[in-house]
Amino acid sequence: MQICEFASQYKFFGMKKIYLFANWKMYLDVAESKKLAAAYASERANFPRDSVVAIFPSALSFSTVGEAITGTTFALGAQNTFWIDKGGYTGEVSAVMFKNVGGKYALVGHAERRHLFSESNHEVRQKIDTMLTAPLTPVLCVGETLQEKKDGKTMEVLEAQLRAAYMDIAWPKNIEAIIAYEPVWAVGSGEACEPEEAEKIAGLIHDWATKLLPKGISPVVLYGGSVREENILDYINQPHLAGVLVGGASTKLSSLLGLLGQLK
Ligand code: PGA
Repeated sequence: MQICEFASQYKFFGMKKIYLFANWKMYLDVAESKKLAAAYASERANFPRDSVVAIFPSALSFSTVGEAITGTTFALGAQNTFWIDKGGYTGEVSAVMFKNVGGKYALVGHAERRHLFSESNHEVRQKIDTMLTAPLTPVLCVGETLQEKKDGKTMEVLEAQLRAAYMDIAWPKNIEAIIAYEPVWAVGSGEACEPEEAEKIAGLIHDWATKLLPKGISPVVLYGGSVREENILDYINQPHLAGVLVGGASTKLSSLLGLLGQLK
C-alpha cells in the first residue's frame, strides 16, 4: 500500500490510538440513555479501530448503559464520585460502588463540578486518591475561566490544578493518568479553543504532569469544550492530544454520527 493511500485511510491521525470520551452530563433520563447506548453499540464498527471509547452516563443510568454496551469494547465511566467508600453521605456515590457495577473511568474536577458546585483542588485530590484504590482510572479535568484567561493567568491556574491533583501521589503502574484540558469558557458554550492553542497547552500539561507523576507514568492529554463534527479532526490530529472529551455532541445520535463520519 502506498504511504499516502495508507495515511488517507486514517484521516491523518495515523496509527494513533484515539480516546473518544462521551460525557452525557444530566442530559438524558434512563430510557433515553438506554436508547442512545444501544445506538452507540450498533455503531461500533464505525468507531476508528483501536479507539478507546468510554461513556459517562448519569449515576442513575450507569447500570442500564453498562448492560446496553455489553459485548462491545466500550467502557463505562462515572461523572463524579465521593472520596469515602461508604457511610452517611446523603446523595453521594463512591468510586468503589461505580467500580462494582462495571465502571472503569471517572471524571474528576470537571468544570461544571468546580464552578457550579464549588469543588476545590483539595477535594479533587481526595477523589483521585479514592479512585486509585477502587480502582477507577481518573480523568482529571483542568481549565481556566474566561476571566483567568483575560488576566493572563491560564498557566498559573493549570499548574495549580495539576500540582494539587498529582503532587507526591502514589500512582499504580497499571492505571493511566488521563488529563482533559477543558477551558471553562469553552465547555458547553459553542466557542471551542483554537486547536493550535489547545495543542500548545496540552504540551505544557504533558510536561508538568510528567514531572509531578512518579517515573514511568506517561500522561495522556485530551481536549474538551465544544467539540463538534466541524472541529474534531483539528484536535485529534495535534501531536500532544490523544483524543477528545465530548459533552453535548455525544448526547444525540445525529451528532454522534456526524463525529464518526469525520473519523472514517
Ligand atoms: P461540551 O462539554 O462538549 O458540551 O462543551 C464538554 C465536557 O463537558 O466535557
